[in-house]
Amino acid sequence: MNKTKVCLIVGTRPQIIKSAPILKALVNDDFIVQLVHTGQHYDYQLSKAFFDEMDIMNPTLNLEVGSGTHVWQISQILSRLEHPLLKLEPDVVVVPGDTNSALASALVASKLKIKLAHVEAGARSNDFTAPEEINRRLIDHCSEILFAPTRNCLDNLRKESVFGKSYMVGDTMYDAFLENYDKIKRSKIRERLGINSKQLAAVTIHRTENVDVKANLHMVIEILNGINEQGIEVVFPMHPHTRSRLEEFKISYKGITVVDPLGYFDMLKLVEEASVVLTDSGGLQKEAFWLHVPCITLRNSTEWEETVKLKVNFVFGLNKKVILNKVHAIINNSDFRKRFRDIRNPFGDGRASKRIVSLLSGIK
Ligand code: UD1
Repeated sequence: MNKTKVCLIVGTRPQIIKSAPILKALVNDDFIVQLVHTGQHYDYQLSKAFFDEMDIMNPTLNLEVGSGTHVWQISQILSRLEHPLLKLEPDVVVVPGDTNSALASALVASKLKIKLAHVEAGARSNDFTAPEEINRRLIDHCSEILFAPTRNCLDNLRKESVFGKSYMVGDTMYDAFLENYDKIKRSKIRERLGINSKQLAAVTIHRTENVDVKANLHMVIEILNGINEQGIEVVFPMHPHTRSRLEEFKISYKGITVVDPLGYFDMLKLVEEASVVLTDSGGLQKEAFWLHVPCITLRNSTEWEETVKLKVNFVFGLNKKVILNKVHAIINNSDFRKRFRDIRNPFGDGRASKRIVSLLSGIK
């Protein structure tokens, strides 16, 4: 039988996590798998660590694009990907998520008239100042196959009349979470970091709107200090970009436990151990939800409205007073976690990757 050649393109930490279960499901006789890494993330802790932990095949090719302005990064991927992709001759290019790597790869596939499939299609925050919102909309409108993680995402695609064919498959991040839950449970991150406090807040902040504007990054640190003053240990695995901005802006922090970025198992275990999560990441809002931990999102909008409607994720921007009050209310409400008990998971059943692979098998 003629095998289907699938070229999956990743470049950043969340894309590697989203792709791991798809790559696993692609290992069968029907497919030839090509894995391209753009090199957008290159630090061990943001890239290779996840390949090792999740036992992902080595990339067929690394474009080693690295960091730069968004325009530079996208243009580098455009020019570095064209010839290799012509040589690889895939039947379909698969891009997950909404990063610059995803947008640039989608454009190359589209210009080369190679079929394009988008994983996590239809997510919308409606915040056009966020680079990811522009990226995901553009990718959706040049994809032939759109894999929506939730019913809401599928509805968004229908409203926008995308030309490709849309399927509600579920969220591959949820697949990854279920597949790795035993290993997450076994992580000894609390002991390794020497965290003894009863109440923890797990924090990640890296979005350009929060870290590239001095006043905003200052406010983030003020908010975290305020949480610390409530007797809650703030544990902040810090993206290298956030760290360098703090240094550049000469913003100091005290009483916050800042650590290097964590691997997947340790990060999710830290979330499970936490009383509350504070983040501007998209993925972590969902992971907190699956671990039954309330989340406060330090952005003005979210693409995961589902969790907001379920009253377990609170999108509060950088409103210090509101955030500190909510943290206080969560910590002092021992029944809060009960809210999660009867909630139906809107992100599928853990079989999204299998559905994606089954739909890809009919693509030729
Ligand atoms: C990118 C994605 C974002 C995603 C995030 C996950 C875009 C537009 N943004 O943001 O949606 O949530 O990945 O982390 O694609 N850097 C390092 N080491 C690295 C990579 C980056 O130090 O391995 C530093 C560099 O200073 C770089 C900065 O981080 O300039 C920003 O990196 P970049 O890849 O442009 O964006 P992220 O903030 O990681």
